Amino acid sequence: MSQKEKLIIFDTTLRDGEQSPGASMTREEKIRIARALERMRVDVIEAGFPAASKGDFEAVQAVAQAVTESRICGLARAREQDIERAGEALRVAKQARIHTFIATSPIHMEKKLQMSPDQVVEQAVWAVKYARQFCDDVEFSPEDAGRSEPDFLCRIIEAVIAAGATTINIPDTVGYNVPQQFGALIADLRERVPNSDKAVWSVHCHNDLGLAVANSLAAVQAGARQVECTINGLGERAGNASLEEVVMAVRTRQDIFSCDTGINTQEIVPTSRLVSNITGFAVQPNKAIVGANAFAHESGIHQDGVLKHRETYEIMRAEDVGWFTNRMVLGKHSGRNAFRTRLQELGVSFDSEEQLNEAFVRFKDLADKKHEIFDEDLQALVTEANIALENERVKLVYLNVCSQTGETPVARVILSVDGVERESEAAGSGPVDAAFKAIESIVASDAELLLYSVNNITTGTDALGEVTVRLDRGGRIVNGQGSDTDIVIASAKAYVNAVNKILQGAGRTHPQAADV
Ligand code: KIV
Ligand code: ZN
Repeated sequence: MSQKEKLIIFDTTLRDGEQSPGASMTREEKIRIARALERMRVDVIEAGFPAASKGDFEAVQAVAQAVTESRICGLARAREQDIERAGEALRVAKQARIHTFIATSPIHMEKKLQMSPDQVVEQAVWAVKYARQFCDDVEFSPEDAGRSEPDFLCRIIEAVIAAGATTINIPDTVGYNVPQQFGALIADLRERVPNSDKAVWSVHCHNDLGLAVANSLAAVQAGARQVECTINGLGERAGNASLEEVVMAVRTRQDIFSCDTGINTQEIVPTSRLVSNITGFAVQPNKAIVGANAFAHESGIHQDGVLKHRETYEIMRAEDVGWFTNRMVLGKHSGRNAFRTRLQELGVSFDSEEQLNEAFVRFKDLADKKHEIFDEDLQALVTEANIALENERVKLVYLNVCSQTGETPVARVILSVDGVERESEAAGSGPVDAAFKAIESIVASDAELLLYSVNNITTGTDALGEVTVRLDRGGRIVNGQGSDTDIVIASAKAYVNAVNKILQGAGRTHPQAADV
């Protein structure tokens, strides 16, 4: 990276990514992802929208406390209460940023904000000045910049830089732009805004036309030095630019980019898996960089070529993005110290000895069933330990499922609900269906099952199965996870976990619902 300029990687998986319907995360889940991003050396982590709810506020605060190497950012509309909440949540951060925004396109100003352009400029300048009272690092975004008038963008950007904005982020909020045009917009703005050299230029592209990464890269070639992106391209609607694609494009094509990131690319695949497991959003097999087939060669001609000389068909090395780092770490005879040390190396720490003990008991149980314990197994165990200690009202005590050829499967379940044991039995079209019906007949959540997915965490038939269940009750969508070497038990744990989240649930406000 010697003479190259730095390209700042701003990850918004925990904020824009969380805006994907069904991707909402608990505070503990956000902390785990934030730690993985920190290990990957992401420069800025947008941890959430503190004014949305008490839960969002606490999650941003907890991430700000847990992460010290990356800068932690909180989103705020250009309004007093949002900026105050962001400032308050970030007070504990070692390095903080407030990101404030207001819409600037004619359609948003007229139809959504019902404000004149003059009022929008005034509000933006006020918001940036107010945010600077809480934090020296303030980012400003003219929302829907991709459909805004360039002359108006020049005017508002000049004014907010003068007011103290240190980063100017140009969002293509609705994913409308195409690369050549978007690159030209960035070049034009940088040239025409008189004080453009006083701020870092950033871009935030959505993927509605599948162009988010291409638009971001065009902007980088036009001088943008921060890209906002998410793991696996998660995000509102069709998602945001994918972090792994932006980072690897810039790294692989150093012949054409005059900048590079500081990302530790070997953390990409483990982080992608973590995000996929926590959100329940599976990664498509042919997804660039992190898809299961991204480095698989099926055709004989390709296989032959790769065997003769890898670079005939590969432009990147799988190991450089974290494939095959899966190694046996612990076994049946490993002690508590080895367990704690390996988790520390993975960036996982425990809030209390009780949490460590809980996870260690699960580890010993697993080691009895499975000889080789991999890093992924340890991550799943910690998820379980975290899940188990989150004020859960419902606990799975016992599950028995009878499934045989020619017979209808029947499940018998005992749950502890607020400390009282309750039992039920139900038949179903399969063992998982029967287990869910038995659980539902006790908890009566009345939720609709939106998604059920099973993934094996490592290879082999003794692998832990990780199940994600997505439930919708009255528009509130939650994901539950469970893991076990028995996938019916993992499924029941996931269902119970989702029900607990519904029972704890607090509503969220969408940051772009109304800007002022
Ligand atoms: O897409 C968008 O415009 C956003 C802003 C809040 C930056 O997410
Ligand atoms: Zn966005």
